[in-house]
Amino acid sequence: MPVQLGLPRRRGAAGPVPLPGDRPAVAGLVDRQGRLATDLRVSLTDRCNLRCTYCMPPEGLDWLPASRLLSDDEVIRLVTVAVQRLGVTEVRFTGGEPLLRKGLEGIVAATAALRTVAGEAPETSLTTNALGLARRAEALAAAGLTRVNVSLDTLRAERFARITHRDRLHDVLAGLRAATAAGLGPVKVNTVLLRGVNDDEAPDLLRWALREGYQLRFIEQMPLEPHGAWDRSKMVDAQEVLDALRPHVILTEEAPGSRGAAPAETWRVQWDDDGTVRTGVVGIVASVTRPFCADCDRTRLTADGQVRDCLFATREHDLRGMLRDGASDEQLADAWRTAMWGKLPGHGIDDPAFARPTRPMSAIGG
Ligand code: 5AD
Ligand code: SF4
Repeated sequence: MPVQLGLPRRRGAAGPVPLPGDRPAVAGLVDRQGRLATDLRVSLTDRCNLRCTYCMPPEGLDWLPASRLLSDDEVIRLVTVAVQRLGVTEVRFTGGEPLLRKGLEGIVAATAALRTVAGEAPETSLTTNALGLARRAEALAAAGLTRVNVSLDTLRAERFARITHRDRLHDVLAGLRAATAAGLGPVKVNTVLLRGVNDDEAPDLLRWALREGYQLRFIEQMPLEPHGAWDRSKMVDAQEVLDALRPHVILTEEAPGSRGAAPAETWRVQWDDDGTVRTGVVGIVASVTRPFCADCDRTRLTADGQVRDCLFATREHDLRGMLRDGASDEQLADAWRTAMWGKLPGHGIDDPAFARPTRPMSAIGG
């Protein structure tokens, strides 16, 4: 008999699913709104070797002390609980910069060797800035990594240095090529457009991505940076990106209105590039102007072993403490279920009472 993982999924559920009592005795990570979380983001470190202005100040942040970080074995134990007991089918490693984690290949290999409740290997991917990926792409692919998402906001070296405070564009491009060569595709490139900095670069980035065979995704900037400078009226939104692309390409929306739990809305692209017709896909993650919270299927584990039900959650649930106090797998699973049960319907960025998360994106995991 199949394991019952959760309540029937209700797309765009607006209100709570009526349930007897409080949390039901199902195996999966369901919440009060009837959503089922199957996509786990694991932050492996809060450190990074870039300093993107919207993420970290140039001097860095107060990094987590080593004693609070989960060890490789502890990460693997919690990922195993998520995949084997809680119905997680996709595991994405993030940071900070996950390539800074020395044991990454081992963590990936242990994850790829797991089997989901349905008996399949989980999908394993990496969200990375690609610095050093050129040297590690082969080993990561051999360990069982399925895909990478690379963060890159500009193709101009001086802008790259201005945005990230490091002169490393060349290394990112080498990392991208290595990812393709190692079979870590489809390689996705995540771009945040910043007003007055790189907001004129959308067409150039798309033409480059089509030439190289990468799937470009523009991400609306979210209020996550530590110094609180985010300003909705300055944000480059999805509509503006589409308006900037339309003079250059034919855009056909893929299955309008059915992005489901996938955060990106995608368009088929056709571009006459000096006589060569290039085709591909471009995505837009409109987390601010078109939030997808009603279909969210994510659960998050921070580098210090806290479960978060949302990027914007104001509460965390401590699994590290339980784990170090000798909790059993089932106790850890049950605490994780309880953590997710209270997930709020939406991030509430537009709510006047909206409060930024108490920790920066690099500690939570992108
Ligand atoms: N808003 C949107 N995206 C962000 N990222 C980091 N901070 C923000 C933010 N405030 C992106 C990075 C990377 C991914 C992990 O998240 O550019 O692509
Ligand atoms: Fe590092 Fe990513 Fe933050 Fe940039 S956005 S500083 S690459 S963690």
